[in-house]
Amino acid sequence: MTPEELAHADLDLTVDGAVATITLNRPEARNAQRPRLWAGIARVLEELGPEIRVVVLRGAGGTFSAGLDLGLLDPAKPDEEGNFITVLGLDDQAIIDQIDVYQRPFVLLGDPRFITIAVVEGHAIGAGFQLALACDLRIAAEDARFCMKEPALGLVPDLLGTKPLVEAVGYARALEICASARIVSGTEAGEIGLAQVVVPAAELDGVLAATVDALTAHPHGAVTATKRLLQEAPARTIDEQRLAERTAQVARFRALAGG
Ligand code: ACO
Repeated sequence: MTPEELAHADLDLTVDGAVATITLNRPEARNAQRPRLWAGIARVLEELGPEIRVVVLRGAGGTFSAGLDLGLLDPAKPDEEGNFITVLGLDDQAIIDQIDVYQRPFVLLGDPRFITIAVVEGHAIGAGFQLALACDLRIAAEDARFCMKEPALGLVPDLLGTKPLVEAVGYARALEICASARIVSGTEAGEIGLAQVVVPAAELDGVLAATVDALTAHPHGAVTATKRLLQEAPARTIDEQRLAERTAQVARFRALAGG
């Protein structure tokens, strides 16, 4: 994407060796998300080269993301790109198809080609929480504030957040967090398995660098194949998973032998 296209998508992108950093770059609106941002993240991820092993997602200005741009829920702003009033003019299937497009970057963040890390400081609300959940790992500041605000606004989380949340913290805790729409601190996120690393905000960059080093230290093909196996494990029986492991190992043997 060109710098102009990235700016239009409220994004900044830096690539340093095997690491791509996507920054939500609309700090004046606390990195509130619009459809253009989702389309931009999808395009950035699709255009990354095979050398990229880690994708870091973070927010500019000390906030991860305040979630959906509330202008999109405002009936007084029907001209806003993606405003729900406009969406309501569509039939049910067309709305479902539209949300499918919006969900695309959240799906792509799970691509086995790379490991995705959300660096969460400040707020991760609604779509912001879901964006963090779409990443493989979350590194959070102790005073970060996660909130699944959608039910409080009469909505459901529809950007893929429900599945990784249940997988991370279990059904009961996920329900409690969503139904209450309460704030989960970074410290609590670490305790309940929502965040894998939790540190004071000033230490985020250091711990991120160490994590990236660890995640890129070993053969890319082995890491990619292992990520795929782990992702697919919950949906498989033991025998199906055993077969998947054996099959993946054949490919690893051949790669090690240079064939
Ligand atoms: N959409 C659009 N603009 C936003 C959003 C948002 N979600 N969040 C913040 N902004 C804007 C504010 O309107 C304000 O703009 P202004 O300077 O033109 O008045 C600016 O960002 C700064 O916001 P403040 O509220 O002043 O910032 P503060 O740091 O005090 O608070 C916080 C941050 C807690 C994130 C607060 O802005 C907030 O609660 N935002 C709304 C969160 C929300 O309900 N998101 C939707 C969740 S549901 C979903 O994502 C589907």
